[in-house]
Amino acid sequence: MPPADPSPIVDIHTHIYPPSYISLLSSRTSPPQLLQLPPPSPDTPPPPPRLIILPSDSPSANPSTPPSLLGRPIGPEYSSVPHILSFMNTHHITTSILSLANPWLDFLPAHESAPWARRINTELRTISASSSGRIHAFGVLPLTAPLDSILDELSFLASPACHPYIKGLILGTTGLGAGLDDPSLAPIFSALQQHQSSANNPLLLFIHPHYGLPSSVFGPRMQDSGHVLPLALGFPLETTIAFTRMWLAGVFDRFPGLKVLLAHAGGAVPALAGRVGSCVEHERGFYDASEKGKDGGEGAESGRGARVRGPKRSLETVLRENVYLDAVSYSATGVRAAVEVVGRERVLFGTDHPFFPPVGVGGKKEEGDGDGGGEGHGSGKEEESEWTSVTTNVEAVKNAFGSEDIDSIKGVLGGNAIRLFGLDVDSGGGG
Ligand code: URA
Ligand code: ZN
Repeated sequence: MPPADPSPIVDIHTHIYPPSYISLLSSRTSPPQLLQLPPPSPDTPPPPPRLIILPSDSPSANPSTPPSLLGRPIGPEYSSVPHILSFMNTHHITTSILSLANPWLDFLPAHESAPWARRINTELRTISASSSGRIHAFGVLPLTAPLDSILDELSFLASPACHPYIKGLILGTTGLGAGLDDPSLAPIFSALQQHQSSANNPLLLFIHPHYGLPSSVFGPRMQDSGHVLPLALGFPLETTIAFTRMWLAGVFDRFPGLKVLLAHAGGAVPALAGRVGSCVEHERGFYDASEKGKDGGEGAESGRGARVRGPKRSLETVLRENVYLDAVSYSATGVRAAVEVVGRERVLFGTDHPFFPPVGVGGKKEEGDGDGGGEGHGSGKEEESEWTSVTTNVEAVKNAFGSEDIDSIKGVLGGNAIRLFGLDVDSGGGG
């Protein structure tokens, strides 16, 4: 990407595993875990550890695969701030909003979850505070902890202690265990909505996939294409289903001010919104689980809650008023579809760093790696060349609008995020 265009680029979808989280993964013997591999001989260095996070990568799902080919190799670009800054410089990224990568704290037992959330959030705040304004962060909630602890952490993220460093929070699609349409999430959404309505921090809720779809839908040959099916289809469909369930359950009726950011350009939401809306219009039976037993009739008897008319606010309205989409779609068509459903000022550039590095050195692909998990894991030299996954997304934004609409291009690449998050990019700082 030539540095010709001096307008700021803001990356709102970029991840980190802070060193403490790396140690946590290294201490585990089941996914999510880091597999440390022995050196091939006593005088050679050990190969990079393998990151095993996707359910389909686990040693138990792949009993005949050697550990050296499971998951993907990970290097310092996953956790080193200098590497992240170097990546940003290479790609002319002015400001990044870092988030903990999946699967966040979803797997922790209840009593470990809250201390870990505070530890990670504090680390993220410190990284941001020492970055001269180039890095901000989305925090994380201890979702397996008791509700009070979750709300405490949310208050911490919204407190002056985290301002102006923390700009939102990242959330997987399982919520408290039953999905994002679970009525038990109401106190969290309510608190979040309240924070979001207060003046100077949108504290955006970034909804990101991890679990994909059950492997059975991809068939017995799934592993033949590495991570392609789970990442290209499983991830975006997971997000599509999670958001659609929220809308169907009336989350945006009860919390009309709740603002969410959907990963990967909203998955299939832009393409399927019309069909979802039409199915709702033609559906006869909707029940509101948060009103369980209140209608005293059919709903109460069925245990499904009161019978209702379906979501009150249309999907079109919710998309335009409650939803932001990242531009991580790798195609102009995808960016245009995102813009079409949420509006051009609500689409925000992202890279998904450090996932999708260039595959292998010299374009060579490591056997068994399906998602850019080749040896291009950013140790030093490779970090200096541009990543195709990034340039493709920049080009997609440019091509989505064409050269006559520079304002929209600048908006999606950075201007929209600058306004939304109140970033002060001119002074290289704050916001
Ligand atoms: N992108 C992510 O954010 N996580 C993955 O596991 C893969 C791609
Ligand atoms: Zn991501």
